Amino acid sequence: MAFVNEHYLKLSAGYLFPEIARRVNAFIAECPQFAGEIIRCGIGDVTEPLPLAAVEAMKSATDELAHRASFKGYGPGTGYDDVRHTIAEGDFRSRGIDVADDEIFLSDGSKGDCSSIMELFSHSNRIAITDPVYPAYVDGNVMFGNTGAPLEGGGYEGLVYLPCTAANGFIAEIPSTPVDIVYLCSPSNPTGAVMPRAQLEAWVAYARKHHAIIFYDAAYEAYIQDPTLPRSIFEIEGARDCAVEFRSFSKSGGFTGVRCGYTVLPKSLCASTAGGAQIPLHPLWTRRWNTRSNGVSYAVQRGAQALYSTEGKRQVAELVAHYLGNAKLLREGCTQRGLTAWGGTNAPYVWVRVPAPFDSWGYFEHILREARVVVTPGAGFGRCGEGFIRISAFNSRANVEEVVRRLACIN
Ligand code: MLT
Repeated sequence: MAFVNEHYLKLSAGYLFPEIARRVNAFIAECPQFAGEIIRCGIGDVTEPLPLAAVEAMKSATDELAHRASFKGYGPGTGYDDVRHTIAEGDFRSRGIDVADDEIFLSDGSKGDCSSIMELFSHSNRIAITDPVYPAYVDGNVMFGNTGAPLEGGGYEGLVYLPCTAANGFIAEIPSTPVDIVYLCSPSNPTGAVMPRAQLEAWVAYARKHHAIIFYDAAYEAYIQDPTLPRSIFEIEGARDCAVEFRSFSKSGGFTGVRCGYTVLPKSLCASTAGGAQIPLHPLWTRRWNTRSNGVSYAVQRGAQALYSTEGKRQVAELVAHYLGNAKLLREGCTQRGLTAWGGTNAPYVWVRVPAPFDSWGYFEHILREARVVVTPGAGFGRCGEGFIRISAFNSRANVEEVVRRLACIN
């Protein structure tokens, strides 16, 4: 007899974004006359074409595969050396941050990385996550059996929730209960809040003092325009001993469909055995990749690498400026309509307080029906997300202007 992993049975019925798609499809089935009018600002999925530098590099890499002399079979599981070099140089060393080429591990995106990293850790860790939070962190840990049962009203037993509210500027505060692993996301998905340097320093100091590890999701770092805000946790002294960073080309290079991201795992990062020995994690993560994967496809790695060329950087900056321009319009549109909104200045998400008498799923339905606009209900990101919606700035300018017009017209 085959036995199922019963931890999967603890998961809520559907992952957030398929659940939203299901509700949108139900609305379309009920009111098919509105199908063509729907504008999707729910999932943060890019809409603009890929940077030309990446397209040309991927075409030329595919051509290489078409000829015997330049053909490539399996690549290294952790990424081609020169691609890792370009990333370490472009994102870190050129900014004065100490990251070695072989501390970069390429993957098909950070959604998978932020769960699969848990393979290196025991089930006994006390894991802290922010509330609201990107749901993939939680669901991944549920699947691994790192949580208890679902709690009434949302969340899971066994996780330590760090409330992020308007009162603390949506920035996670250091917990009073000791924790071993902390997920932090900056700029935050979903609130758009960015961790200020002083608070990130405090988190690093906490992690070092308690021998904890921070999983730092920097998938949206390209959106940080304020030079005083940290773009990488490795800007903070001591972080190499207590942090892993997740990066993605999805929202910078428009790679949500292409798929490429990476983790930075410093060679100095260790975790403890039950007997107290300090074990470096870098060899284990390398071992994990070489066992489980043959790496990211050659053409995609070349596409990602091209984002660091002079042209590539210019095109990425243009893309980011486009989405940030959308975010500004959305935030201003909400404010002019009398709603209270956060985020959207160093992040592509606008976090909006839901007006009375709605709750967040209720306001999602209201906006869908009255404005034919899809947003994400904050409650889908955790209990502290109740009372909010998230509006994604990933769209065309024309659609965003139309969203602002429509939101102004509904009750
Ligand atoms: C989101 O909308 O939260 C993100 O696009 C989801 C993701 O990056 O997986």
